[in-house]
Amino acid sequence: MAKPIIIANWKMNPSSDKDAAVLFSRVRKGIAGIKKADVVICPPFVYFAALFNIVRGRSTALGKLGAQDIFWEESGAFTGEISAGMVKKAGATYAIIGHSERRRNLGETDEMVNKKIKAALRSGIVPIVCVGEWMREVPGVIPEIVETQVRAALAGLTAGEFKNGVIAYEPVWAIGTGTPETPEGATKAAMIIRKIVREMLGPDSEKKVRVIYGGSVNAENAASFIARNMRGMEGLLVGGASLKADEFVKIVKSM
Ligand code: PGA
Repeated sequence: MAKPIIIANWKMNPSSDKDAAVLFSRVRKGIAGIKKADVVICPPFVYFAALFNIVRGRSTALGKLGAQDIFWEESGAFTGEISAGMVKKAGATYAIIGHSERRRNLGETDEMVNKKIKAALRSGIVPIVCVGEWMREVPGVIPEIVETQVRAALAGLTAGEFKNGVIAYEPVWAIGTGTPETPEGATKAAMIIRKIVREMLGPDSEKKVRVIYGGSVNAENAASFIARNMRGMEGLLVGGASLKADEFVKIVKSM
């Protein structure tokens, strides 16, 4: 099994670069010596410089940086947007793409998500693609929209291009609600996602992609999502709990 990847999505927090540097340093200190998980911190863009200064020249194993979004063009007249190449130069290795909060609040479509994934890959940024249904209508059944989103995200890509990519299953009803999906439900979604990856990108492609879970992950439930002896989730995307250094470090340690 691949090493689990634990991703902190700070969203629009904290409120100053000073607070961001303190949180980041605390997390780095807490995870020093942990080799069993890859850790990625996704701060707001404006804190990249402050955090990259902390990482620069030191071990990037102690927390790599990721963007929370990127735009699909490289440069030009796109007011307010930031390109994959820019975040790469600012120190990012990863980028979250298609988070449900962007799909909902900014009208991001499957087509835009696909263009952003391609832009990330062109710039050598690893995409963390978020998919997940808004509501669960039939208990225990993963809705078809998950399949639609994964298919649209991977359209036009080859296995070679998407290898090492990350797909985060994030049922929207579980985000920030304190009601996570069950580990069984998440594993079921992961199986469906891997099957689609295999269908679209070819045999064995699904083994090179990491499928992770996000939605109300905390220090108590984190370990339950990471299966030891079956191919379950290979990591976690953590929102709220990633803003508390101690709790986030506990999550990483529970791997
Ligand atoms: P949450 O957020 O951990 O606060 O539920 C997860 C996410 O939105 O990525």
